[in-house]
Amino acid sequence: RAAHRGRRTEQSLINKPNVSSQYHKEIQKRRTFGIISHPDAGKTTLTEKLLLFGGAIQMAGAVKSRKTAVHATSDWMAIERERGISVTTSVMKFNYRDYEINLLDTPGHQDFSEDTYRVLTAVDSALMVIDSAKGVEAQTTKLMEVCRMRNTPIITFINKLDRDGMEPLDILADIEEKLQIECVPLSWPIGMGKGFKGVYDLHRRQITLFTPSQDTRPEDCIVVQDLADPMLDELVGVFAANKLREDIELLQGAANPFEYEHYLKAGQTPVFFGSAINNFGVRELLDAFVELSPPPGPRATTTRMVDPSEESFSGFTFKIQANMDPAHRDRIAFFRICSGKFTRGMKVMHHRLGKEISLSNATVFMAQERSHVDEAYPGDIIGIHNHGTIKIGDTFTDKEELKFTGIPNFAPEHFRRVVLKNPLKMKQLQKGLLQMAEEGAVQVFRPIVGNDYILGAVGVLQFEVTMTRLKDEYGVDATYEPLSYTLARWVSSDNKQQLREFEKKHQFNLALDAEGHLSYLAEGSWRLAHTQELFPDIVFHKTRESV
Ligand code: G4P
Repeated sequence: RAAHRGRRTEQSLINKPNVSSQYHKEIQKRRTFGIISHPDAGKTTLTEKLLLFGGAIQMAGAVKSRKTAVHATSDWMAIERERGISVTTSVMKFNYRDYEINLLDTPGHQDFSEDTYRVLTAVDSALMVIDSAKGVEAQTTKLMEVCRMRNTPIITFINKLDRDGMEPLDILADIEEKLQIECVPLSWPIGMGKGFKGVYDLHRRQITLFTPSQDTRPEDCIVVQDLADPMLDELVGVFAANKLREDIELLQGAANPFEYEHYLKAGQTPVFFGSAINNFGVRELLDAFVELSPPPGPRATTTRMVDPSEESFSGFTFKIQANMDPAHRDRIAFFRICSGKFTRGMKVMHHRLGKEISLSNATVFMAQERSHVDEAYPGDIIGIHNHGTIKIGDTFTDKEELKFTGIPNFAPEHFRRVVLKNPLKMKQLQKGLLQMAEEGAVQVFRPIVGNDYILGAVGVLQFEVTMTRLKDEYGVDATYEPLSYTLARWVSSDNKQQLREFEKKHQFNLALDAEGHLSYLAEGSWRLAHTQELFPDIVFHKTRESV
């Protein structure tokens, strides 16, 4: 909520006199977003089309090749190592019209992980892609939950209209019910599958006709001021025309009008229909996206809101990418600029360590002229090379001591017990796990009873990556044992008496995380619900902020 109150404030701050107008223009033209979707809904295809519109054509192959190449961990690592692909596709920067767009990748297939969630803490808005045949799917629901935490505004694209799918009204009802967000269609499909004729733009009252495998041209747009016009029957056929008339009549009675403020507060999502693979409806989506989605807004810190128009430099780390090269143990920390201008070589304070560092080797992510850019602005992401000194959530500024909030750990859903093959390597194991926990690669728990290490992850690939890195970087040979836990919750309570009773009763399900916070590991949501009932004063948290 704070973020949205902030966003309104930002509007009133736009004409602050002490802000150089060029600086302010740079902020206003930035759009930093991520795509939320379930695997196979069309995120990669849509990303490629967006990049094509942005003129970053050579990137398109990279996006696809990364996805198809991710078969197994070994492949994935080899690819990371050889080509650093995940670094280049982690942030895809492109220009469209007057806008500078940062598309942050939200890995979704085998490499679905806590990073996927955390990327969403660094965006200003999101694009939701839904497969028209499947409606809302599990991963979309999870990502939506993360968007809810900061009320991130969302624009929806219903994809694959060239295939038979659910009735458009049913899709909207599905989204409203499962994601608890009001849908406002700004376009409407005419038919679907083999009978897909195009979309009707409800705002401009024009029809764009669909031709399979062919990009839409401006002349394909036909203005239809009155749906009763017999021209409509000629254009799309009597059946489709009548169906459209019926649908629109229904919509006019039932659908909510679009309210910009409501969208900014994530209460409403504008909905577009199309087919990414046919590049149909994508330009319309992108046009609406740049116009509607918000530029970088204020961000909360532990002490105050930081407005992007402030000229002092500030930002936070939301993702750390290990290089995987045993010869150089360097990592890239992905850093979102929240205020001020980045210039190469500038000195900033790394507040957690109380150290000044020089940002001379930082990478500014650009789809094309990556190495030539020496400046970046709020909303942009820079990559900072380091040797394991940077942690997720670390704040850097050029003077004031600040700590950005809203970059939490997310409750893992998969768990493994680490079994060390050589007990003499215990020290290295501890060091490696602590380091990787700080990077957000995996979460580490120590059960209250016993001496085990339990790893928790949001996606199972995290386990394989952790094991390979333990061996390569720390010389630790270990294996995993499966565990039956399926969820973790951080616990707290003001009722000390109840907390003690809870700790006693559930000692075998309790563990301390890498920062020593008490966590409850449960075998299923039913178990959690039961425990919650028994201990009503205990709060079970799905996320935990680092300190
Ligand atoms: P993802 O990143 O969300 O996982 O999805 P991706 O874009 O890879 O798309 C998943 C599959 O859906 C791909 O087919 C892709 O070609 C297809 N697809 C994407 N958009 C559309 C669309 O508008 N209409 C139809 N009919 N299909 C679409 P695939 O067979 O898995 O991969 P490929 O062999 O085509 O690359």
